[in-house]
Amino acid sequence: MAHLTLGIETSCDETAAAVLKDGRQIRSSVIASQEALHAPFGGIVPELASRRHVEAIWPVVREALTRAGATLADLDGIAATAGPGLIGSLLVGLSFGKALAFAIDLPLVGVNHLEGHLYAALLEHEDLIFPFTGLIASGGHTHLYLAEAQGQYRLLGRTRDDAAGEAFDKVAKFLGLGYPGGPLIEDRARKGDPDTIRFPRPLPQGGAYDFSFSGLKTAVVNYVKGSGFGVRGSGASPLDPQPYTVKPVLDPALIADICAGFQEAVVDALVRVTLAAAKASASSRIVVAGGVACNGRLRSKLTQRAADERIEVYYPTPSLCTDNAAMIAAAGYPRLLRGERAPLSLNADADLALGLM
Ligand code: KG4
Ligand code: ZN
Repeated sequence: MAHLTLGIETSCDETAAAVLKDGRQIRSSVIASQEALHAPFGGIVPELASRRHVEAIWPVVREALTRAGATLADLDGIAATAGPGLIGSLLVGLSFGKALAFAIDLPLVGVNHLEGHLYAALLEHEDLIFPFTGLIASGGHTHLYLAEAQGQYRLLGRTRDDAAGEAFDKVAKFLGLGYPGGPLIEDRARKGDPDTIRFPRPLPQGGAYDFSFSGLKTAVVNYVKGSGFGVRGSGASPLDPQPYTVKPVLDPALIADICAGFQEAVVDALVRVTLAAAKASASSRIVVAGGVACNGRLRSKLTQRAADERIEVYYPTPSLCTDNAAMIAAAGYPRLLRGERAPLSLNADADLALGLM
């Protein structure tokens, strides 16, 4: 008999629900983005995010059921993100999941958002098996794991400061391009030359597979300031008298070169560290997930370099790279199948860790 799992995800600024058949087949995946809500601030405002989740959660779950052609009575289990993320946002989805599980007597499991990101790749690639090296690069995380088996993850490295996506967002904000920064920078970078401006490749000493991106962001800021061009209305704060929408005075061709040079530096660091970690752990498979995995330059460079080492790289399709609930249902499904059932005392944890350090 088919198993239908409801996934719920509200860890950041997307209210998402999905219905999955047998843990693999996506019957529906609904994502209500809050991008427009936060755009004027150039980043996520946590209080606004949680209030919007409260408004959106039931309509989003209802829509996911409708699109799946299912009712609450057809569900076999619920998987909801329990962390890490913004605590006020996490609490909305998890509390909703717990209330629903209690009301209709369904098993519930709490899912680690990072494990969810890795499962996005497992959802789509039937040939992908454990073990693999997993890079999660998003707005909140840049974590490198050795995924040994289902539920067994070893943290190999992480960013010491900003996440890769956060660096994209901050540089885009500084350049007055808007939010979220990743796609906007990638778009400008296509028109630029990655070799005209060479920004530093941030590789911290010590932790072998760690990243650092805040120095790179500062290098971009210093370059722009040193170039004698001003950036008006960079929207450094919501109180900035000149909102971020004011166009920068930088020449578009220079912006394109800055974006290309910056993107190349981020991609270079991600590719080098990920490949080094994969080789050291003798992985023949790499999974890249999280919003930054949408980046075309990262995909082509990593795939090419990995092929030289006979390593295959798996990416979810872009709509499953960014936050969604299908990946949460996919990660929760094997545990629901094993009979796991979270107590109603399960709490959200903003810093929930994945795996062994
Ligand atoms: O996984 P995600 O949707 O949310 C978090 O869990 O953070 O990732 C969002 C992040 C943002 O920082 C966004 O700028 C970045 O992913 N991103 C990209 C691209 N698309 C989204 N970064 C680089 N290139 C892209 N094409
Ligand atoms: Zn995420």
